[in-house]
Amino acid sequence: MPTAPDSFSAWIARLPQWHGWLQLSPERPYAHAEEEYDNQYGVTAPEPEDGEGLCNLLKTHGVDTRGPALEIGCGTGRLTYGLARHYPGPDFLVTDPSQTFLRITQTQLGDPAAASTQLHFAMLNADDLGQLPPEMFSVIAMRSTLHHILRVEEFIAACGRTLRPGGALVMGAEPVESGYVLMGAVGQSIAPVLQAAGITVRPEWTRQINDLTDTVKFYCRRDINKKTAEDKHLFREHEMADLGQQHGLQLKFFPNAAFSNYVAPYVPEFETFSHFFLNYLQFCMLYDAEFLELIRRHLKPQLKYLDDCYRSHVGPTITGVFLLKKNAGQA
Ligand SMILES: C[S@@+](CC[C@H](N)C(=O)[O-])C[C@H]1O[C@@H](n2cnc3c(N)ncnc32)[C@H](O)[C@@H]1O
Repeated sequence: MPTAPDSFSAWIARLPQWHGWLQLSPERPYAHAEEEYDNQYGVTAPEPEDGEGLCNLLKTHGVDTRGPALEIGCGTGRLTYGLARHYPGPDFLVTDPSQTFLRITQTQLGDPAAASTQLHFAMLNADDLGQLPPEMFSVIAMRSTLHHILRVEEFIAACGRTLRPGGALVMGAEPVESGYVLMGAVGQSIAPVLQAAGITVRPEWTRQINDLTDTVKFYCRRDINKKTAEDKHLFREHEMADLGQQHGLQLKFFPNAAFSNYVAPYVPEFETFSHFFLNYLQFCMLYDAEFLELIRRHLKPQLKYLDDCYRSHVGPTITGVFLLKKNAGQA
């Protein structure tokens, strides 16, 4: 069990290096081509909103940001870019297990002088978080990464330990069980609805439907060994609250919010179930345009029903921001 070092800079100076990166874990490439990641999600330029929004959220909730920040699973830098420009603390350790992602993010960030904080880059697999020094980081930030981590309970415990009192673990764009299972259930009805409308469901469309429904079921189940899978889990708010509580972290959950919602003009980007569902089919499941249009047209009653249930309040919960704040003054 590592002991607390004198300072972040002393700790970081002692870390081994591998191919120019600080090394906290062995390299682990992403399961899909890293260079294609932004194309798949339609990202064309660096976006500061997510990181800036996260920093606004930290401020609003009184998170103590006087110490270093750690980002886990930076990918192509979608959250990193704004965090590097807005994090008020002295240091920002950007990490990913993939050195290709680290390189893409470092390039994306551009001139380090544009950053508000000192940048550092390390290879880190979150399953190794237990080796980080206790009470080192003020903030642990992640976007769309928790569901990739094998041992979530151990991970939250390690976060509780390496966070400083008054600091926080902040996670966005994570899949919530209730909304994902609903997406799977709506997916199950695509083929019968199209067939009833006299449309021939092509074999590649059947494969795409199965891809959605099998994926949701795989994420949801807890009786499967997910060690070798890239995406692994769905989350439940009350379980996250209990888990946080066990490790000195108090949960504030913002249903269906994205970090970018916390940037002026503070308009929630997420609107309806149908909006999320159709985007998910397009960008995550890569459904083709013709198939998507058929789904949009013929499943309108089912999608409208769900949207109508939530005309004046947020829901169903499909994703959201989890802010787990460590009690100030706690040992
Ligand atoms: C869906 S991508 C999200 C990337 C980026 N945060 C974003 O919002 O675009 C998931 C990221 O988690 C990283 N990842 C996967 N397994 C991980 C693990 N066990 N520990 C840390 N990062 C992991 C991947 O390399 C990838 O960068």
